Order: sequence, then C-alpha cells, then structure tokens
Amino acid sequence: MQPANAERGQWGSRLGFIFAAAGSAIGLGNVWRFPTTVGQNGGAVFVLVYLLAVVGLSFFVMIAEFSLGRRTQRNPVGVYKTLAPGSAWKYLGVLGVLTGWGISSFYSVVAGWTLGYLWKTAVGAFNQASADQIASMFGSFVADPLTQISLHFLFMVATVLILMGGIKGGIERWSKILMPLLLGILVLLVVRSVTLPNAGIGLEYYLKPDWSKLTGRGVIAAVGQAFFSLSLGMGTMITYGSYLSRRENLVTAASWVCALDTLIALLAGFAIFPALFSVGLEPSIGAGLIFVVLPNIFNKIFLGNLFGAGFFLLLAIAAITSLISIVEVPAAYFIDERKWTRRKAVLVSGGGAFLAGIPAALSLGAVPGLSSLLTIENRTYGFLDLMNLLFGQYSLIIGSLGVAIFVGWKWGLSNLFAELREGNPDFRAERLFGFFIKFFCPIIIALLLIYLIFNPNAFA
Ligand code: PHE
Repeated sequence: MQPANAERGQWGSRLGFIFAAAGSAIGLGNVWRFPTTVGQNGGAVFVLVYLLAVVGLSFFVMIAEFSLGRRTQRNPVGVYKTLAPGSAWKYLGVLGVLTGWGISSFYSVVAGWTLGYLWKTAVGAFNQASADQIASMFGSFVADPLTQISLHFLFMVATVLILMGGIKGGIERWSKILMPLLLGILVLLVVRSVTLPNAGIGLEYYLKPDWSKLTGRGVIAAVGQAFFSLSLGMGTMITYGSYLSRRENLVTAASWVCALDTLIALLAGFAIFPALFSVGLEPSIGAGLIFVVLPNIFNKIFLGNLFGAGFFLLLAIAAITSLISIVEVPAAYFIDERKWTRRKAVLVSGGGAFLAGIPAALSLGAVPGLSSLLTIENRTYGFLDLMNLLFGQYSLIIGSLGVAIFVGWKWGLSNLFAELREGNPDFRAERLFGFFIKFFCPIIIALLLIYLIFNPNAFA
C-alpha cells in the first residue's frame, strides 16, 4: 500500500525503526515518571506489578498498535476510518489525538526542567549544597514563572523544528547514537548510588515487596505507567508503525522496544532510591523527585558537574525524541485527514501544546491557585499533576483498552495474524497472542476501570 500522501515518509532502515520506536518509548517516562510513581506507590510491590503489566498487557497492545499502523499506513483516526468505516471507532483515534495534545503540554514543561538543570549542574550551582538546600532550590526554580515558561517554550520550539525536518531527517538521526550514551551515564550513576552509605535501605525499598503497600490505586498506576512508558494507548505506536516497511518483524521489534525501555526504567530506579535514602529524603515527594535526588549523587562523583550536565543533556535529548513522537500524532492526523502541509500541521500541534502547557508550567508555585486543585487521601494535585493523571494515565488506559477490543473483536485475530506473518512468515504463536489480545488484555483493563467506579477514591 502506498503512503496516503507525499507529506508522509518511511523509516530508512530496520534498525532505524527499533531505535526510533525505542527513542519514543525511552524518555521522561523512564527516568522521571517511573521513579516518581514508584515512590508514591510503596516501592518494590509497584515495580513488580509494573513488570507484570509490561509483559502481560503492554507488549501485546504494542503489537496491536504496530499492526494497525502498518496495515493501514494511516494516523490513529485514519486507521479506524479505514478498517471500520462509518463507525464510532474513529472517536478512539480522536481520543488519541487529544491525548497527544494533553501529554505534550506538560511533558514539555518537565523537559524544560532538564534544560534548567543541565545549566545549573554545569555551572556548579549545587556544589557543596546540602540535601535540604538542593530540595529548596528545586522549589524556587519551579516557582519562577519566567524561567518555567521560557524553558517550556524553548523545548517546544526545538521539537517543532525537528518535526518539520520530516521522518527520516528528523526523528531517526537523533535516536541512533545518543541512547547508548544515556545508558552509559545511567550505569555510572547506579554504581555511585548503590555504593553510598545506607544504600541498602533504598535497595530494600526498591526490591523487597512490602505486600501491605499493594493497593488498587497502585495497580492502576502501574498499568498506566507501563502504557505511558511504552508510548501506548494514544496512537504513537500506530503512527510509528504506519511508517514501517512490510519486511519488518513486528514481534521482534516490540520485544526489543519493551526490553530496552524496561531496562532504562529499572536502572533509573537503581540510581534514585539508594541515593534518596542515603541523604534522608522522602520517596513520595512527587514530581520533583529526581531533580532533588540526582544533584546529591553528582556532588559525590569525580567530575560530577561534567557527568551531571552530560546526564541532563542526554535526558533532554531522550525527552525530545519522545516529545516528537507525541506531537507527531496530532500532526499526522492533520496531514492525513485534513490534507495540511507538514509545516502547518506541526506548527498548530506544537503551538497548541505550548499554550496548554502554560498553566502546567505555572502550577508548581508560580500561581498558587494552580498548585492544589484536588486533594485525595492526603495527596495534593496541581494542574501539572492533574494533566499527568488524566492524559498520562487514564486516557492511555482507556485508549489501550480500545485498541485491544478493536483488534481482538472488530478487526479480528486473523487479520492481526496475517499482518504479523508479513516479515515473519514463521509466526506460530496464534493461541498465545489470541488469548492475550482478545481476552486477557481487555478483561484485565476493564476490571481495573470497573474497580475504579466502585472505589472512586482510588482515582488519584
Ligand atoms: N514513552 C514516553 C516516555 O516514556 C512518553 C510518551 C507517552 C510518548 C505517550 C508517546 C506517547 O517518556
């Protein structure tokens, strides 16, 4: 099938796709959101449920998204219009486009923090600072409206410029070389973190499940985190799959992406938790967690400013390779469905996300009214937290449920298997994949949502 119009493009090579998809998956979700969520949901039990969610749910949803994208060569709305014309399924695609807009708004704000911290670390702003001072420096950093909006703006402009370069020139080139480098620095941080005094307490928190901390809310958060981290449930992987060639083995590609993404998330936890307990901080502090913990590690490393700055630089790059994949979803929609030029589509998507991100950027102290909009069981949610919860968690859970139901019950398993056999003629795991996509994924996700209806307090 030919691409729907000439403004689209294709991946340059096989490995290019795995790197690009991993580039989408690996980002703030792994290094910022994962440790934050682990810290808010009781440590090791959460990690365990997270791993189960990756293997039992996300992996299959990823296969389903790749297949839909490659089969139709369309954006998420176009997929449903093509495969189920005239039906309400297209609203599932519309939800994805809206979610892309919602996530990109606050994602760019947090990505802006990495730029601020890149600068601060490079100039040695944290040298000799105590853990408490480092924590209050984060507080004043995020409370400064001008800095917050400028960094958010800068990040969104960079994203828009890369996306205008198109698929091959833009996304792929960036993803290839830099991810291995991020992995390298992360390993270094892990080594330093686990050799700090009292690191054992953090390791125990991270690795030894305390079953009394297992809650419905934690399970839902783990599932949401797995979808977020693997870029599922809003059509990113549909869109990326749509640029994929028929020769690619989708099962192999999905396995690689899941494995690499999980590796980085787990390493981030190993870097954060030992250091956190070593300097005596609270795991449940929320969005600032890594920014409050990491400078403490850099202070205890030879050439710490250099490695610290390098780390934030690579994290910023990992964030941008994810953010482009988020903004690409609304952009692909405008290009395919509205026949806009790539330039206009990207400008409107990025501009809209910038505007929506402004209240998020101002919600950590700059505008007091935005910093506590909702309190449930002692946890307070500001605007950014709320966007993160609604779009970064619930939209993705609902979107993934929709994808599983669509592929399992509407498009049908035989179409899925036919697609999987392209590029992988020996595919034999029909029963396994059929069971997970048609029954396990929809039933488990639906049960979680039903649980919420009866326990609305578990919502946040
Ligand atoms: N997976 C990305 C990350 O972990 C974020 C993302 C979410 C990207 C949803 C695309 C879609 O940083």
